[in-house]
Amino acid sequence: MKYMTTAEIREKYLAFFEEKGCKRMPSSSLIPDDPSLLLTSAGMVQFKPYFLQQKQLEEPYIGTTTVQKCVRTNDIDIIGTTGRHLSFFEMLGNFSFGKYFKKEMCAWALEFSTKVLELPEDRLYFTVFEDDDETIEIWKNLGVPEDHISKLGEEDNFWRAGPTGPCGPCSELYFDQGPEVGCGSPDCKPGCDCDRFLEYWNCVFTQYDGQEDGTLAPLPKKNIDTGMGLERIAAIMQGVDNNYDTDVLRGLIAVGEALSEKTYKEDARVDLALRVMADHSRAITFMIADGILPSNEGRGYVLRRLLRRAVMKGHSIGIEGAFLNNYVDKVIELMGDVYPEIVDNRALIERVILSEEERFGATLRQGQVFLQEALDELQGITLSGKTAFVLHDTYGFPVEVTKEICAEHNIDVDEEEFERCMEEQRERARAANVKDAEAAWSTYGGVHAEVLNLVGPTTFVGYDHLNADAKVVALIAEGKKVDTLQAGQNGEVVLDQTPFYAEMGGEVGDTGIMVNDAVRMTVDDTQAPEKGLTCHSVTVEEGSVSVGDMLSAQVDEKRRRRIMRNHTCTHILHASLREVLGSHVKQAGSFVGPDRLRFDFTHFEAMTPEQIQAVEDRANEIIMSAIPTNIYETSLAQAREAGVTALFGEKYGDTVRVVEAGEFSRELCGGCHVSNTGEIGFVKIVSESSVGANLRRIEAITSYDALAYVNGLEAQMKQAASALKAPVNAVFEKVEATLSQVKDLQAQIKATKKTESAGLLPEDLSSVSLDLAYPCVVYRKDGLDAGGMRNLWDMIHAKLGDTAACVLASDNDGTPLLLAAASDAAVEQGFNAGAVIKEISRHIKGGGGGKPTMAQAGGKDASGLDGALDAARAFLEA
Ligand code: SER
Repeated sequence: MKYMTTAEIREKYLAFFEEKGCKRMPSSSLIPDDPSLLLTSAGMVQFKPYFLQQKQLEEPYIGTTTVQKCVRTNDIDIIGTTGRHLSFFEMLGNFSFGKYFKKEMCAWALEFSTKVLELPEDRLYFTVFEDDDETIEIWKNLGVPEDHISKLGEEDNFWRAGPTGPCGPCSELYFDQGPEVGCGSPDCKPGCDCDRFLEYWNCVFTQYDGQEDGTLAPLPKKNIDTGMGLERIAAIMQGVDNNYDTDVLRGLIAVGEALSEKTYKEDARVDLALRVMADHSRAITFMIADGILPSNEGRGYVLRRLLRRAVMKGHSIGIEGAFLNNYVDKVIELMGDVYPEIVDNRALIERVILSEEERFGATLRQGQVFLQEALDELQGITLSGKTAFVLHDTYGFPVEVTKEICAEHNIDVDEEEFERCMEEQRERARAANVKDAEAAWSTYGGVHAEVLNLVGPTTFVGYDHLNADAKVVALIAEGKKVDTLQAGQNGEVVLDQTPFYAEMGGEVGDTGIMVNDAVRMTVDDTQAPEKGLTCHSVTVEEGSVSVGDMLSAQVDEKRRRRIMRNHTCTHILHASLREVLGSHVKQAGSFVGPDRLRFDFTHFEAMTPEQIQAVEDRANEIIMSAIPTNIYETSLAQAREAGVTALFGEKYGDTVRVVEAGEFSRELCGGCHVSNTGEIGFVKIVSESSVGANLRRIEAITSYDALAYVNGLEAQMKQAASALKAPVNAVFEKVEATLSQVKDLQAQIKATKKTESAGLLPEDLSSVSLDLAYPCVVYRKDGLDAGGMRNLWDMIHAKLGDTAACVLASDNDGTPLLLAAASDAAVEQGFNAGAVIKEISRHIKGGGGGKPTMAQAGGKDASGLDGALDAARAFLEA
């Protein structure tokens, strides 16, 4: 058989289907444009709208062909233990949306296999779905012998991407690796669990649209969706029996060999680690390039789990420190020409990996010790769920990783208990949230549901109107439905329709007033304690209100306009952040109030001052371009097609509301917005901070608040200017000049001190020195304290150099002090400060001592100071 590299197979496949009339299209992102999927797991994902005929392929193409990057996560913990499973893989595909079907597809699959790949026909086998005799006939007509075709049931030969959506029966192509590879049974055939027959190509006849209720609705047209695992076909073409021995993955295994200084295929435990690192590092590289960041949920958790599993496997075979970036280099070298996004995002990938590796590395070793101790002490064969929870919560061990380590010791993990601990933790978090919410808004059990049931949802008219005449349909006080609210009472008012926006999607609720001839109430807050039910929290100022009354509901317009400016500005900042920092930036929460806005987003490091400035500048450019906003309702499918930003995991109805600021920002949003970005005035980002791992927060102010902020700064500037007696525009120069003046003065003070100290010693020190093997000053200077005497020694030392010694005396206001000190060289020559002081301190009726290099004494009789120095001279000269 002929050998082909992965790159050759990839190119030959795409060129083959291009020749047949298919349009070559790029791989789509690993983040699917489809909220029902966590990650892109097949080539067909980007073509769902085509299968549903929501999107059309341009003429004259008969279909499309792609190589799609895929991540599948159903069995991460067995990856590495087999030669077949991979988290990341490439899928070669071709797709027809009603143009060609089974007959063409089967013929081309055979042609590509036998003519391009030159696979021997007698080693090819085919399966079809159990009731699909038509396809059997097609294969037979193409010359496939009957005994190479078999039927399989739904599990093998009916393909779906998920519980709902386009799906259909399929026919699969298998390659016979030979009886020596498999189970050896004479009945062995495609579908057997052994490795003999390797499935390499799946041709799905996508005819149905799976419904929520499990039924299959026929699609408008009959389609083709095929997928060939590139690593698998590469293994066949390279004559190896597993994916890891193919050129690309073997190149990555080599990285691990170099890092660990171990050789592949010598030790099963090492092999497992090398395979895991090779596979996971590739997946991680591609996931980050597509904007996924490590987190504790969703696709971010998949990334974190892969990264941590790879790190642990690396450490288990002796690799130390952060090492994953070595793989990134290799992945880029091997695959960068096909997937430019990994080249373009190299810096991002490396920084994210390094920061996550360091974060995890810090607790990894402690966690391993903790787990080892738990395993050592374990009675029985099950690790408690609590221990697994501590490992997860404190040490960042994904539970799957704990399970895997335990499995190596034949230990189970009590997953139920683990889940209970997790649920308790979630419950604690929820309780804390509820407590916060309750402080702001007291929800009374059941009454809101009861009211909603009774009066139905409130009609919201507040997008277009800030005043409305409305009818009171319910009143609530102290958790009960009431008929009337009196002056001085607090309660909740429910209207048939309202211009008041109830807090939602980060935007705070409206305030304002409600009046008629008989009542005047202030609305302090607006909330929707039940979906669709708007409750106005009111204080009755005058009169009384009863159910059935008509009144005028008036939103505090000034406040609402400030909220709207901040809300639209939040969208603009979101888009600016993505532009400046990259498409990994995703909204993680927001708060839109009248006086400020807050936006939380995924990003892995602090923004630099330059980045903050760039975001602010871009946002202000959009604001000052005075772009009219366009707000409309559309179908979710259409919004998605238009590339509108939606939040993953958020449930949207079929009809969604889109808020657009030109081409710049397009988001699904139910909030209140200005009609032109110019109304925002301008925006000032006032802070940027961390709110968790890979989560940043910016706070900003707009319009009047931004103006007030800038005015405040100006006022401070004016104050500073007046204190400095300089014009405002010269404050900086004045401060600089003043600081340099201060510096000069400090230098002067230092110099003066030096001159002063210069008078402490005679010019010529030899006049007061003993002529020993080293220079030794014996000198009296009155008025010095102990510190002053030590300084004097420092001066002598500096002046006489490294062999100096001294004996000093001082009458400090009647207190006699003595000090002897010496350089190491003088000590070596025999000077001993401690001994000198001991010898002479009796002259001042005192005592003291110290080391050979430094000794001091104080005494009672200052008149003995000269005698002490004489004694020192005598002692030293002797
Ligand atoms: N969607 C099918 C698969 O993933 C064929 O592309 O196997």
